[in-house]
Amino acid sequence: MIRQYSDYSLLKHNTFGIEAAAKNFVEFSAEEELAAFLRKGFSGPSLVIGGGSNLLFVNNFEGTIFHSCIKSMEVVSNESNDILLRVGSGTNWDELVAYTVAQGWYGLENLSAIPGEVGASAVQNVGAYGVEAGELIERVEALSIESAEKRIFSQLDCRFAYRYSIFKAEEKGKNIITHVTYRLKKSAPFKLSYGNLNEKVNELGGATLANVRKAVCEIRNAKLPLPSEIGSAGSFFMNPVVEQETAKELLATYPTMPQYALTCGNVKLSAGWLVEQCGWKETPHKHVGVYKNQALVVVNRGGATGKEVLEFADAVVHSVKEKFGVELVMEVNVIR
Ligand code: EPU
Repeated sequence: MIRQYSDYSLLKHNTFGIEAAAKNFVEFSAEEELAAFLRKGFSGPSLVIGGGSNLLFVNNFEGTIFHSCIKSMEVVSNESNDILLRVGSGTNWDELVAYTVAQGWYGLENLSAIPGEVGASAVQNVGAYGVEAGELIERVEALSIESAEKRIFSQLDCRFAYRYSIFKAEEKGKNIITHVTYRLKKSAPFKLSYGNLNEKVNELGGATLANVRKAVCEIRNAKLPLPSEIGSAGSFFMNPVVEQETAKELLATYPTMPQYALTCGNVKLSAGWLVEQCGWKETPHKHVGVYKNQALVVVNRGGATGKEVLEFADAVVHSVKEKFGVELVMEVNVIR
């Protein structure tokens, strides 16, 4: 059943814990009822949200916000080593990961404990510990907001890249994702080369799906704030990518700077390190700061407004630019 609310508080729908309201808020539990709603039409701007773990509301939203409550999970193909699992866009991301790990299906284990919902995993191409969701996505089903027609995007159509997909570019704001189908494996090599993941897995008794999930959860819990305890949107900035020459010059001045060579020849820097070096762990603003264990995460210290978070973020970007000459770009989706 479609549920509609007016002047609806978004406090429970953004992990930053920012007080904002939506003029209209629409929740749907099935594709057909959403299609019927869209066919009737509505006026004003629209926005689709998932778990609100990557959103920053700066003002009230004077339009219609859609939120999926489609929580289905069905195996649509089970052949040789591959499982195709079609999942409703409103499914909690970590419940999906826990389920696949319990079933003995490989693919999503490194993406454990990421807040958010399945629909957003495709928009955002969530990634952690050497794996990105887009690598596992077979297809994305959506409804066009304008025509209510069904649209199917293959993995290739989605144009996944680091924290990027077509849904952040040409298709931005045009569709409501209803289902995402993941290609999982009954057996596959583990990906344990990121940071101390391999070491953690060995401490737990060796590489099994359950141990990889447990190790990832432990690493994340040690570094990242729990959204239920501290308001944040996870990584606030993207890790910047610079040319090899620039990376070399930076390394000559800052020999401890973490750098990761990309296959394209460019070099990825660590935004968290850059922000920490600018002293932000020690100098929070009144209501906003960075997390003590990961400076890439901007936190609500209590009672922050969206505008205060943006002001703080601007100051951080400015300081990194001044000190390193590197431009940080926000990963968080700012809704103005
Ligand atoms: N570092 C610091 N100080 C800090 C934070 C990091 O010196 O305050 C250094 C670390 O010591 C390490 C390097 O920076 O040498 C990288 O840190 P980390 O391994 O924590 O990863 P990250 O690059 O900062 C990215 C993702 C995270 C993801 C981790 C693990 C982005 C923007 N963030 O962080 O994603 O969990 O890798 O794969 O790519 C998210 O998107 O919300 C998120 C948490």
